[in-house]
Amino acid sequence: MAELGHEVVGVDVDPNKIAMLSLGKAPFFEPGLPEILATGMASGRLSFTSDISQVRGAQIHFVAVGTPQKKGENAADLTYVNAAIEALLPHLGDGELVAGKSTVPVGTAQRLAGRIADAGSGAMLAWNPEFLREGFAVQDTISPDRLVYGVALGESGAAAKALLDEVYATALSKDTPLVVTDYATAELVKVSANAFLATKISFINAMAEIAESTGADVTQLADAIGFDARIGRRFLNAGVGFGGGCLPKDIRAFTARAEELGRGESVAFLKEVDSINLRRRQKVVDLVVESFGGSVFGKRVAVLGLAFKPDSDDIRDSPALDVAVQLKGLGAEVLAIDPEANSNAARTHPQLNYVSDVDDALTGAEAVVVVTEWKQFRELDPVRVAGLVSRPFVIDGRNCLDPVAWRAAGWTYKGLGRP
Ligand code: UDX
Repeated sequence: MAELGHEVVGVDVDPNKIAMLSLGKAPFFEPGLPEILATGMASGRLSFTSDISQVRGAQIHFVAVGTPQKKGENAADLTYVNAAIEALLPHLGDGELVAGKSTVPVGTAQRLAGRIADAGSGAMLAWNPEFLREGFAVQDTISPDRLVYGVALGESGAAAKALLDEVYATALSKDTPLVVTDYATAELVKVSANAFLATKISFINAMAEIAESTGADVTQLADAIGFDARIGRRFLNAGVGFGGGCLPKDIRAFTARAEELGRGESVAFLKEVDSINLRRRQKVVDLVVESFGGSVFGKRVAVLGLAFKPDSDDIRDSPALDVAVQLKGLGAEVLAIDPEANSNAARTHPQLNYVSDVDDALTGAEAVVVVTEWKQFRELDPVRVAGLVSRPFVIDGRNCLDPVAWRAAGWTYKGLGRP
């Protein structure tokens, strides 16, 4: 927002985050973020505080707190959204706009709009879902695929739209598609987009399972169906499946909300999407176990990747970390490496052995498992690294290596859904 020319105050309840940000340091890895953080701070338009009263006088208050999965339940935990709104209430002024960015169960915005109205400040609410991808967060924010505003009917909705148009003037001037709608549609756009993406991935992973029983190659299948513009090749990469802070919890929260609405059957297929996804992690573990004749106990396994996707240090619901932890649980000696996520993983999963050099992970390994397709793993030279391992056996959990080159270098190569 500061990059777009606005004057921005970032507020968080976590004093450590505020301290880091105030020093110009991003509290997580995201390409391009340190650079725009630095320019924002140098411009004087960007500052951070844990004092909520500093929001006074702002025209727009974006609420972008997390909505994680509730412990032991599928539903989303709205504690942070509710707390943020309550914290804002005493500081809101007439004509100011609260713009929700968080992914919330449909119906939440209507409830919060009522809460804001009851408090009597004259502030308005809009729901403005966020579609950025980790790893591309800066680019997706500056140049979004589309903007969605969920606003109230009538005059206050028109005023909310006008304020959002000012905020997003740069994107709108580049003809970014804009959908202006009601609260419920805006909330649903976000969850249904993520549900569709998750379904696309599980669809291709289901085809990978069929391919595994027939000798077909799911990567060629994806190429071939992807040429149909109605299908498209993106998000058709079969492998160890989806993870992260969004797709897994969003499909579960959507299922829970639909059930509350008495519409569970409408999205019952999302349970299947979730099951297919979780089976693929298991498949990778099973392939490693099978390769040792039924037990990995005491075997040295190199796990390449811990983050849920490359260019991120995020390990939330990461299939890669799950595979590493499961192998460790079965008694393997796991050497784990991720270019950015090692320290996050070490904090929550101290039982794994973390190394920072890929050669250290590979040296003496009896199995190599690639579970996050970082460039440095995709570009490994199979001939050179064959000399490091004690058994050249590789499982390509992301179908990101060239089977021909790896086999030619003497490796036993196993991809997912590939012969
Ligand atoms: C997602 C949505 O894409 C984004 O629009 C939304 O705002 C937040 O959730 P993100 O979680 O950053 O973004 O990651 P995404 O790129 O969607 O990948 C999600 C997971 O799916 C990753 O684990 C990735 O490895 C996996 N994936 C993706 C596949 O397994 N196959 C694919 O073809 C694509």
